[in-house]
Amino acid sequence: MTRSPRPEQPAITVFQQDGTASGAPGITGFVSLVGAGPGCPDLITVRGLRAMQGAEVILHDALLDAAFQELFPAQALALPVGKRCGKASTEQADIQRLMIEHAQAGRRVVRLKGGDPLVFGRGGEEALALEAAGIPFEVIPGVSALLGAAAGAGFPLTHREVSRRITVLEGHHLPDSAAAWRDLALSGGTLAVYMGTRTIRALASGLLDHGAAPDLPVALVEQAQCPGQTSTFSTLAHAAAGALCPATSGPGILVIGEVLHHRFHPTSEVPHEPAAPVSGSSREARPRGGRRERRAS
Ligand SMILES: C[S@@+](CC[C@H](N)C(=O)[O-])C[C@H]1O[C@@H](n2cnc3c(N)ncnc32)[C@H](O)[C@@H]1O
Repeated sequence: MTRSPRPEQPAITVFQQDGTASGAPGITGFVSLVGAGPGCPDLITVRGLRAMQGAEVILHDALLDAAFQELFPAQALALPVGKRCGKASTEQADIQRLMIEHAQAGRRVVRLKGGDPLVFGRGGEEALALEAAGIPFEVIPGVSALLGAAAGAGFPLTHREVSRRITVLEGHHLPDSAAAWRDLALSGGTLAVYMGTRTIRALASGLLDHGAAPDLPVALVEQAQCPGQTSTFSTLAHAAAGALCPATSGPGILVIGEVLHHRFHPTSEVPHEPAAPVSGSSREARPRGGRRERRAS
């Protein structure tokens, strides 16, 4: 693997109050686009952690766990540039401008992004902007929400003789043709839907209308790998009838497919607070300390 050399750090670093670049002209810095994982600090990669520890500027998403900030080095300027419910606190163009300006001032910049930077994370846009500006950069992968959800809630994403395919969708934009719906409904593999908690009913109805089995299992995993992780299990028919709803205000991912018939229950206890009971739904045995598991039917 070839990697761009990281330049020596400039002797003097001057930050303006708004966090924009100043000083050290002519020295080009370096940007690391780092995947932070699904929201708990101990799922960042070792490489990502090292990049963060050497950073002078950290531009970070709205990370689920505030404990992330404890990993930021004391000398680093940390700028929150995250989004909540798709609403930007900082425009994408401004995020890119900040990365470029700080790097042009000779700084080591970490752009810390939830999950993996290249999965629904606009990491591609940021990489292209850096390339166009002639800034050396790297991309450090992270544990995407789907992987965190499967491991945390306890189901495989592929399973021999059950599912050999994973289709990943974005729930804001459901299929717009009967052919596209049919492809999804009859894919025979595992469907994973990011940003789909508001379109569960429409998605489930569309799949049923185009040939999917009513008893196909569906899981909604919220705040995967975080202390408030909640998993709700249902079927396509119940989801289409409105029975599968978010139980938290945190991010959630939907997984649909026969793989959910092959659930497992990791035994390691995680020292989180016990969760409160959920009214109006039955609960199964708690699989891991403090994590909630529900049936929505
Ligand atoms: C803008 S996308 C970012 C995805 C991210 N780049 C990744 O690889 O996971 C945000 C969506 O990811 C999903 N997501 C992120 N973190 C999650 C978590 N801890 N648990 C469940 N879903 C999560 C949700 O569907 C959320 O709406």
